[in-house]
Amino acid sequence: MTVSNLIDGQATAAQIRREVATDTEAWVKAGNRAPYLAVVLVGEHPASASYVRGKAKACAEAGIGSDTMRFPDSISQDELLAVVNKLNHDPDVDGILVQLPLPDHIDEKTVIHAIDPTKDVDGFHPVNAGLLVIGDPDAFVPATPAGILELIRRYGVETAGATAVVLGRSNIVGKPMANLLVQKGIDATVTVCHSRTKDLVDVCRRADILIAAIGRARFVTADMVKPGAVVIDVGINRVDDSEAPKGYRIVGDVDFEAVQPSARLVTPVPRGVGPMTIAMLLKNTLRAARRHSKATNQS
Ligand code: GUN
Repeated sequence: MTVSNLIDGQATAAQIRREVATDTEAWVKAGNRAPYLAVVLVGEHPASASYVRGKAKACAEAGIGSDTMRFPDSISQDELLAVVNKLNHDPDVDGILVQLPLPDHIDEKTVIHAIDPTKDVDGFHPVNAGLLVIGDPDAFVPATPAGILELIRRYGVETAGATAVVLGRSNIVGKPMANLLVQKGIDATVTVCHSRTKDLVDVCRRADILIAAIGRARFVTADMVKPGAVVIDVGINRVDDSEAPKGYRIVGDVDFEAVQPSARLVTPVPRGVGPMTIAMLLKNTLRAARRHSKATNQS
């Protein structure tokens, strides 16, 4: 019998989506309105349109209401801010997701900052980033790091006292990932690496948990991984492949074939971290609905 060391993100995400559906059903049966997510999509970016379709379908399957508001590339920043403001004040909207990237003439930061932090199910607003840093349980945590933590937990990985190395310092993956792992109760010892890190191979090789989120195809090679480490691959990179139907295929930030034999656990790409993001978005939306109901009932 071969025992797989693969972390199955697809199956885990499906399980979480069923759990959210069950919890949502109970929430509605208890007399509450179904949670509602407003998705804002600007322009015709094909990848964004596909992500948004996936989010809408997942909401429907979980019993969460959602609507995708579509706007042309020509929408002005002020018009988009007015849309966000309207959603902020709509008592029937629990979560707001403005799909990124936005067209060049719109400042993403200004738009993200305009979202009511209690409806910011993406967890991108600085209030939520700050709440995460101070360990406040009310923080909305961005879906990718939240999904990674969920995978780590569900696969029984001990985090207390573990040496965790996060490769990449982006605001939506690397930094929130490091801030999660260092929290009380999770208790990892965390190092964040980036393009100026010295002795990168040695630093990575010390990791019990290595999280690669740098956006460079197959960057993490076998010599960077301690035997028995848990390796999480966040990368989604296109590489040319003349034999693939589309002329390219998707690979992660980890050289999977080289690393997999000696890792204790490793996420594949695809079917690893990717599917978890939608599952965590649903979880955040249900949480937002619960919080709004509590806030409304108290006022
Ligand atoms: N674009 C790619 N991923 C995401 C995401 O998680 N949230 C938003 N808002 N836009 C994205």
